[in-house]
Amino acid sequence: MTTWDPKTVVAGVDGSRESIDATKVAVDLARSRSAKLIIVTVVRPPEGWWGIVGSPPTAEALGDSLTQAQRDILDLVLRSVNLGDVDYETQEEIGEPASRLVSVCVETDADLLVVGRRGAGLLRRLVVGSVANHVVQEAPCPVLVVP
Ligand SMILES: Nc1ncnc2c1ncn2[C@@H]1O[C@H](COP(=O)(O)OP(=O)(O)OP(=O)(O)O)[C@@H](O)[C@H]1O
Ligand SMILES: [Mg+2]
Repeated sequence: MTTWDPKTVVAGVDGSRESIDATKVAVDLARSRSAKLIIVTVVRPPEGWWGIVGSPPTAEALGDSLTQAQRDILDLVLRSVNLGDVDYETQEEIGEPASRLVSVCVETDADLLVVGRRGAGLLRRLVVGSVANHVVQEAPCPVLVVP
């Protein structure tokens, strides 16, 4: 019999209430299965950067402002979620959020990706946010979408 035995769970956070709720589910799951939790926040590089340089910018090159925004998001999530004795780490990524989340899942050989159904986007035109929609289509592992 094949069983699903998750060793690594990835949660995507953008500071939204939905992403915090999703992280709470990811934390409970990681705790109950003794899995490792990786909490990931992705920031888009400033407009035009890719065209000029042609390769992904480093955090240092971008200066402190973007990474401070990520630290604020991670701080908020860590304050809002009871991690207890869960084995976790945080990861700050720069790039297109959905692609970076998928890449992290590939790189960490993740068994599950957890995201909110919606996020911090202000427009309510979509039933499912574009990042959630994209990762469902591209992720190498099961995706849990939390409303
Ligand atoms: N920058 C990001 N870094 C990490 N995870 C993210 C990021 N953006 C979104 N997510 C994850 O995806 C979930 C859905 O967010 P999404 O961005 O798809 O919705 P939205 O912001 O409402 O819509 P849109 O961005 O398309 O306007 C979030 O709850 C979060 O779990
Ligand atoms: Mg969004």
